[in-house]
Amino acid sequence: MLNAQADRLNNILEKTVPAVLALLSERGKNMFWPAEGILKQAAEAKNTKLNATVGIATRDDGQALTTDSLLKEFSGNLEIFRYAPSFGIRPLRERWREEMLRKNPSLDGTKITLPIVTAALTHGLTVATSLLADPGDSIILPDKFWGNYKLVFEHGFGVKLHPFNFLKKESFDLESFEKTIKTTDGKKIVLLNTPNNPTGYSPTVGEAEEIFEILKRAAEKSPITVICDDAYWGLVFEDGIQKESMFARLANLHPNLLAVKIDGATKEEFAWGLRVGFITFGNSKMCSQAADALEQKIGGTIRGQVSNCSHPSQIAILNALNSSTYEQEKLKNFELLKKRAQKCREILEENTEKFSPFFAPLPFNSGYFMCIELAEEFSAEAVRQELLKKFDTGVIATGQLLRIAFSSVAEKNLAQIFENIFEACKNLSAKSEPPQTSLF
Ligand SMILES: Cc1ncc(COP(=O)(O)O)c(C=O)c1O
Repeated sequence: MLNAQADRLNNILEKTVPAVLALLSERGKNMFWPAEGILKQAAEAKNTKLNATVGIATRDDGQALTTDSLLKEFSGNLEIFRYAPSFGIRPLRERWREEMLRKNPSLDGTKITLPIVTAALTHGLTVATSLLADPGDSIILPDKFWGNYKLVFEHGFGVKLHPFNFLKKESFDLESFEKTIKTTDGKKIVLLNTPNNPTGYSPTVGEAEEIFEILKRAAEKSPITVICDDAYWGLVFEDGIQKESMFARLANLHPNLLAVKIDGATKEEFAWGLRVGFITFGNSKMCSQAADALEQKIGGTIRGQVSNCSHPSQIAILNALNSSTYEQEKLKNFELLKKRAQKCREILEENTEKFSPFFAPLPFNSGYFMCIELAEEFSAEAVRQELLKKFDTGVIATGQLLRIAFSSVAEKNLAQIFENIFEACKNLSAKSEPPQTSLF
């Protein structure tokens, strides 16, 4: 039996966005914002003279009761010690939406839910999965993906990963993408991560248009959810590449398509440890009533999982976003990362012939990383070990790829990393000589 509060939200969704209701998991259908319990009573008592409902400790003057040791870390701001709402602090949610609209002009005029604060992106993905996927459902995603997806989706929720071939030579493999959507049985849930971890590839503007067409065709047949993991949003280093979030167009693409934006301060605001993320839903039939019902389901999920997210972190991000020098400060960081990406390209282009018997780069144009694909004779893990043991060099091995995080290597050291990989491959090569024919 459904809880009456969940039932009420589902009735609203049934009337306003029926396809979105159909896309919810059983857990999502059962979810509600517990407005009628302790929270309601606390809200009703908010302005009372003697309010004994608040679940924090306060000083006699009503300010948060904390310790001097902690207080001095936060320059005397007592507000931050209070709980934040489960939805996140309102000024930050509104400011984030404003930023989202500024950064993604195609969203202009599109009705979306007000972003809700999560404990960064991993938590945002957990909230989305909880509301949208049941055990046994599949998530269609690029075959080059962030390893933690396995833990979140497969191990956390019993959701299967259904990869499509991401890259075909230098391009997004549109054919594999469409075919995988068509041939996946059951509920359709797609995850797009642009810029992509691990490859650092974002679709070109032309490819993005094709992706929208494919998703529209799929939505015409049956309801479909598209989760946009925008962890690396904004770090696009080349012209002709899709800069806007895919969410911007998807949020208004088709009534049968639910677009979910998972983003946050982690990389977009260079604030990894603050743990501030956001989750936002879009659908072409979204209206205030539907948005409110969905926000309550998201808020209820967060309340049940972590109760609420870090208040000081939310205030810090809000203050930074409102600072007059902030954009300039961020631009400097962007330029630094862009120069490193360009340096990688330069090194690889200058050494194509030398490196090609051993490895070749996958296409990259954005994000934190780039990957090289090793020739078949090598095990990526063995090369990684050799790099560690003999060259004091750390990279990530995944499948036949090595992932190089130029985000965390000074430009002047990049050439040495590629040289070390070359030398490590040479050491491991069966003949200790590069093969005669280029494999790439
Ligand atoms: C693609 C992708 N999504 C999500 C995350 C998680 O971000 P957060 O630290 O905000 O949980 C990462 C972090 O590495 C990532 O690479």
